[in-house]
Amino acid sequence: SHNDFALQLRILYQNRLSRVNLRELNLTHTNLVKLQAGYVGAQFWSVYVLCSAQNKDAVRLTLEQIDVVKRMCNSYEELELVMTSQGISESRRIACLIGIEGGHSIDSSLATLRMYYDLGVRYMTLTHSCNTPWSESSSKGMHNFYPSVTGLTAFGQEVVKEMNRLGMLIDLSHTSHSTVKAALNISKAPVIFSHSSAFSVCNHSRNVPDDILQELKRNKGIIMVTFNADVLACGRKVVNISTLADHFDHIKEIAGSESIGIGGDYDGVERFPEGLEDVSKYPSLIEELLRRGWNETELKGVLRENFLRVFREVENVRLKSKLNLEEQTKLFGKTADVPASQSGCVRWGRKEC
Ligand SMILES: *[C@@H]1O[C@H](CO)[C@@H](O)[C@H](O)[C@H]1NC(C)=O
Ligand SMILES: *[C@@H]1O[C@H](CO)[C@@H](O)[C@H](O)[C@H]1NC(C)=O
Ligand SMILES: *[C@@H]1O[C@H](CO)[C@@H](O)[C@H](O)[C@H]1NC(C)=O
Ligand SMILES: *[C@@H]1O[C@H](CO)[C@@H](O)[C@H](O)[C@H]1NC(C)=O
Ligand SMILES: [Zn+2]
Repeated sequence: SHNDFALQLRILYQNRLSRVNLRELNLTHTNLVKLQAGYVGAQFWSVYVLCSAQNKDAVRLTLEQIDVVKRMCNSYEELELVMTSQGISESRRIACLIGIEGGHSIDSSLATLRMYYDLGVRYMTLTHSCNTPWSESSSKGMHNFYPSVTGLTAFGQEVVKEMNRLGMLIDLSHTSHSTVKAALNISKAPVIFSHSSAFSVCNHSRNVPDDILQELKRNKGIIMVTFNADVLACGRKVVNISTLADHFDHIKEIAGSESIGIGGDYDGVERFPEGLEDVSKYPSLIEELLRRGWNETELKGVLRENFLRVFREVENVRLKSKLNLEEQTKLFGKTADVPASQSGCVRWGRKEC
C-alpha cells in the first residue's frame, strides 16, 4: 500500500518518463522487472510532496505527481490503472492505485479533496511529518507548522466525514496518536495505516501501540506493515527478515491476522532489512512467516484479501452516503479554519478566499 517510486521519478528525471526505461532502471528499489519477480499484483503509488510545499505549491506538485503516475501506468503494458476493489480483483496486470501522503496536499479545501478523488486518488494520509491547520502529525517537531493543533480540529473531522462520503480510504500512518483516536471515533468506514509497524516491538513514534491495534481490530481496519528499517528496529544494527516478521507476529497476537497487510515503503526511505532490499524480495517475507507457522488462509489475507475487504467496505459506505441537497449545501459551504494570511490567496491580493 505504499511505494514512493513517483518521488524518485521527480528527483531523478523531473518526471520525464521518455528519459528512462522503467523495466530495468537500477537506481531505485522499484522497477517493473523487480515488481514482477516479487509477484506484486497491485500497488498504491504515493503522490507525496514535501511539507515545505505546505501553503505554497503543494496542490500543483500533487497534481504533477498524479500525472506522472497516470502516464507511467498508461504507457507500460505491465501496468493498469484501477480505481476500485473490483478493478484490483479483475486486473491481470500490476494494478496501479494512487494514494496521497499528507493532508497538506489539499490546502485545507474539501473541493480539492473531491477533485483528487475524481482523478483517481483512493487514500489520503491525514498528515506527513508536519501538522496541517486541521490535523496533528506524529513527528510535528520536524517542522514548525501549526504547533498548537492537537488531534483533529472541527475542520479535520469534516475531512474525515467527507472522505467517508467519497469512498476514500483514511490513512493514519504518520499521524499522532490523538489524531488516530479522533479519526477512529468518527469514521463510519474501516481505516488503514498504509505503512506503520508495532510500537511494542520498536517504540518509534511512527508505530502503532497495542491499545490502538485493539481499536483497529474493532474498526475492522488494517495495518499495512512498513519495511523501513529505522521504524522496525529503533536503531539496532542487525535488521533482517526476522525483525520484520517479529512485527507481523506481534500484530497478529494483538489484532489478529485479518488486520494485517503489506506496506513496503520502497523508494521512500534508504534502509531496508537484509534480504528485503527491493520490491523483488516480498516472497522472502512470506517464506519466513510460513516457517513461523502462519497458515495459508492467514497469508492469503495478508497478501490480498484483508485489504480488499477494507476497500470494499469503504466503497459500501460511499454508496450509502448519498446526500440530499440541503445537506450538501451545509457541507460544501464549509471552509477551513485557516486565517487568510496563511493561505496562498494573499499572493493574488484577494481577500475573499
Ligand atoms: C540493471 O541490473 C541488471 C542486473 O544486474 C542488468 O542486467 C541491467 O542491464 C541493469 N540495467 C540498467 C539500465 O543498468
Ligand atoms: C468520541 O466521540 C464522542 C461522541 O461524539 C466524544 O464525546 C468523545 O470525546 C470522542 N473521543 C475522542 C477521542 O475524540
Ligand atoms: C523508547 O524506549 C527508550 C528506552 O526505553 C526510551 O529512552 C525512549 O524515550 C522511548 N521512546 C518513545 C518514543 O517512547
Ligand atoms: C537475523 O539476525 C539475527 C541476529 O543476528 C539472527 O539470529 C537471525 O537468524 C537472522 N534472521 C535471518 C532470517 O537471517
Ligand atoms: Zn511515509
